[in-house]
Amino acid sequence: MITLGIDIGGSGIKGAPVNVETGELLAERLRIDTPEPSTPENCARIVQEIVQHFNYTGPVGVTFPAVVKHGVTLTAANVHKQWVNCDAQTLLQQVTGLPVVVLNDADAAGIAEINFGAGKGVPGTVALFTFGTGIGSAFFTDGVLLPNTEFGHLLIREKDAEHRASAKVKQAKDLTWQQWCKRVNEFFAEIDKLFSPDLIIFGGGVSKKFAKFGALLKSNATIVPAKFLNDAGIIGAAMAASKLHK
Ligand code: BGC
Repeated sequence: MITLGIDIGGSGIKGAPVNVETGELLAERLRIDTPEPSTPENCARIVQEIVQHFNYTGPVGVTFPAVVKHGVTLTAANVHKQWVNCDAQTLLQQVTGLPVVVLNDADAAGIAEINFGAGKGVPGTVALFTFGTGIGSAFFTDGVLLPNTEFGHLLIREKDAEHRASAKVKQAKDLTWQQWCKRVNEFFAEIDKLFSPDLIIFGGGVSKKFAKFGALLKSNATIVPAKFLNDAGIIGAAMAASKLHK
């Protein structure tokens, strides 16, 4: 079954048709810069452009970097504040004329990894973290997702964890791998203390450099890099929407 997955991020909106039985992208993904300002209406226009580019009709899965409940985006940590309490699902359905499922970006990435990637078949508590502009989280027990966990906002040294340890902070402060991993390890120690995960999947664009820093990371859980890097959101979004196929 083919389903379109679209990943709305702070810098780009990316989409591709996905074979939801295998997790494979069936065409080269299309990436369009996130519009400025990144209001719901402006982003919805890009979503529609991606739908048209693939000449797609059918259910569409769309990720968003915020808490999403029943299609409504409730927060907007790194995006335009007009997204707070926005009925994104209805808006995107109106603009595209297609059934739409909206879900948190890290939850979508987790769904991809648990079904086809680094978390496939792993029992117990699996945590996926995406390190990018913010820190996203997705928690699973025996493959079942607890949505909207938002652990990037856990307070570490009285600051949001993502304001200390995201990939953006590493870049902005020009931190060495050592310095950055020390901050990430403080975050992981807190996660360990509270949830004792069995496996941590390290995701986000920076995970493609895992070979450079993976050995510096510490947790009681096993830590592995994500398999899908930047395509995980697209794949997970498509999987979430595939339930709507008639
Ligand atoms: C948001 C999360 C999101 C994460 C990664 C955080 O700032 O609150 O909802 O998953 O960034 O994009």
